[in-house]
Amino acid sequence: MVNMVLETIKKRRSIIKFLAKPVNDELLNAVLEAGRWAPSWLNRQPWKFIVVSEKETKIKASGMVPTVFSSTLKDAPVFIGVCVNPELDPYHFIEDGSAATQNMTLVAHSLGLGTCWIGAFSLGDERDSAERKLKKLLMIPKNWRLISLIPLGYPKFRGHKTRKELFDIVDSNYFIDREKKLSTEEKVVQKIPVKKILTPTSTPPV
Ligand SMILES: Cc1cc2nc3c(=O)[nH]c(=O)nc-3n(C[C@H](O)[C@H](O)[C@H](O)COP(=O)(O)O)c2cc1C
Repeated sequence: MVNMVLETIKKRRSIIKFLAKPVNDELLNAVLEAGRWAPSWLNRQPWKFIVVSEKETKIKASGMVPTVFSSTLKDAPVFIGVCVNPELDPYHFIEDGSAATQNMTLVAHSLGLGTCWIGAFSLGDERDSAERKLKKLLMIPKNWRLISLIPLGYPKFRGHKTRKELFDIVDSNYFIDREKKLSTEEKVVQKIPVKKILTPTSTPPV
């Protein structure tokens, strides 16, 4: 079975080097639309997307992200800051922003563009965190949070990444602790080893 969405998901890679070619508004809007249509808790849509193209701001932001590939941000023609307001969704604002981020990276890839999810959110909300510095730079109000930065542009090259196999990460009916030595009783309960019922090409249960 060939499924276009699944192929896009599988072929998307994080891009850390970009060509000096601008992204036109039509493509940029399509990426932003993907963020707009992401799911969110109670459809609260607690987000705002900041599109940054100013060279100075990109250079400053590059110096603030805790990543070895910070040049990714300044070299991309544009980056998108994904902000969320926890007052609009106090329970799942991180997931909401993450869903929007992932939607945008996937549509960007499907349009021949490259992105790299740069994690900006700081769980502890520390004073000297990258998130606080970036919020100040992008003039994001105190009560909002910054989930991610997404550099967007034409890829210079694509990397190669692998994933764990399905049979290593999918269990049938209940969680199986593979690190744990099973007792004889547990071995009986676990009649069918998941390795036998799932091959790397199987679809996980939903
Ligand atoms: C929450 C999150 C935060 C990430 N933060 C960074 C980051 O700060 N810098 C970076 O270079 N890549 C970052 N990445 C990208 C991952 O390193 C990348 O997705 C992973 O290595 C798998 O590679 P792939 O995206 O090419 O499949 C982040 C990804 C996620 C989901």
